[in-house]
Amino acid sequence: MEKRIFSGIQPSGRLHLGNYLGAMKNWIPLQDKYRCIFGIVDYHAMTVTYTPKEMEKRILDAAVNYIACGLDPEKTILMIQSLVPEHTELAWIFNTLVSVPRLSRIPTYKEKIQQHPENVNMGLLDYPVLMAADILIYKSFAVPVGEDQLPHLEIAREIARKFNTSYGKTFPEPQSITEEKGMRVFGLDGVNRMSKTLDNCIYLDDTKEDVEKKLATAVTDTARKRRTDPGNPDVCNIFNYHKLFSSKNELSEVTEGCRTAKIGCLDCKRILADNMNRELDPIRKRQKELWKKTDEVKKILIDGSEKASEIAKETMREVRTKVGIGLRKKS
Ligand code: TYM
Repeated sequence: MEKRIFSGIQPSGRLHLGNYLGAMKNWIPLQDKYRCIFGIVDYHAMTVTYTPKEMEKRILDAAVNYIACGLDPEKTILMIQSLVPEHTELAWIFNTLVSVPRLSRIPTYKEKIQQHPENVNMGLLDYPVLMAADILIYKSFAVPVGEDQLPHLEIAREIARKFNTSYGKTFPEPQSITEEKGMRVFGLDGVNRMSKTLDNCIYLDDTKEDVEKKLATAVTDTARKRRTDPGNPDVCNIFNYHKLFSSKNELSEVTEGCRTAKIGCLDCKRILADNMNRELDPIRKRQKELWKKTDEVKKILIDGSEKASEIAKETMREVRTKVGIGLRKKS
C-alpha cells in the first residue's frame, strides 16, 4: 500500500509564521516521498464562535496559502474536511473508544475552555477524536505538525490501538513528524506561542512594511536596556527567528555583534526583516496571483476532496464490516 501522510490547518483566520514554520514548510518535501493529503479542517473551526459568511473566504485563504507556499495539487491531495463526510462518520465510531475523563485532561481542551468560558461545547472536547478520524480515515502512518498538536496525536495512537485490539488490525499507529527548528514558534511578545488568538503574529499576507514595523517593536532580550549594553542571543526571540531565516554566517555575526554590543537590536532586526521578506516575497506574489483565479483554487479543492473520498469510502466499508454495523448483502 502507498505510504500516506495527513495533516491539516483550521480555517480560523489568517495563516501566520507559526503555521508556516511548524507545518506547511515541512510538508513541501514530503510531497515527493509519500501520498500526501492536506486538509482544510472546517468542522474543527466550528468549535469556536465564527461568522458563517466568512468561512468560505477563510477556506479559500488557507488553500491560497497552501499553494502559494509550495503545495502542488498535481502531486498532493488538497481537500476540505466537510466535503468528505467519512471523517465525521469515523469520528462517531471512535467516540465509543475513548473516555470522557481522558479527553478532558488534554491540555489544549483546558486551554480552550479557559479562553472561551462562554462556549464550552461538546466539539471542543471531541476535537481530538475528529482529528484522529482525519488521520486514520486515510490510514496515515505519519502526521507533520507543530509541537502543540502532539497530545492530539497521542489520542490518535490510543484510538488506533484500541480499535485494532477490539476489532482486528486495521489502523497504523500514526507517528508525528516535527522539525526541531520550527516546532514551537514564539509570537512577537517573545513569551507566548505565535497564535491568532493572542494577536502576536506575523501573517503570511503581511506586507514587507508590516513585517518591518512588527519586528521593530517586537520583544528582544529584556535585560538589554541601552544600545551600549551587551545582549544575550540565547534569551532573545529575535535570535530564534534569525535561526529560521538567516544564514550560518549571519547567525555568527549577529551573535558576536549582540554579545559585544557592536550592533543594536534595531540593526539586528533590520537584517532579520530583510531575510524574512526575502522568503515571504515569492509567497506573497503567488498569493496575489491565486486570489485572481479563485475558481481554479475551488476546483483544486473539489477535485482533491473527490480523490480523498475514494480512499475514505474504502476505509469506511472495512470499518463498518469490522464493527458489525449496517447490513451486508451476504451474511
Ligand atoms: P492549527 O490550525 O491550530 O495549526 C495548524 C498547524 O500549525 C502549527 N502551528 C504552529 N507550529 C509552531 N509554532 C506555532 N506557534 C504554531 N501555531 C500553529 C500546528 O502545530 C499545526 O500543525 N488540530 C489542528 C488541525 C487538525 C489536524 C488534523 C492536524 C485537524 N485535524 C489532523 C493534523 C492532522 C490545529 O488546530 O491546527
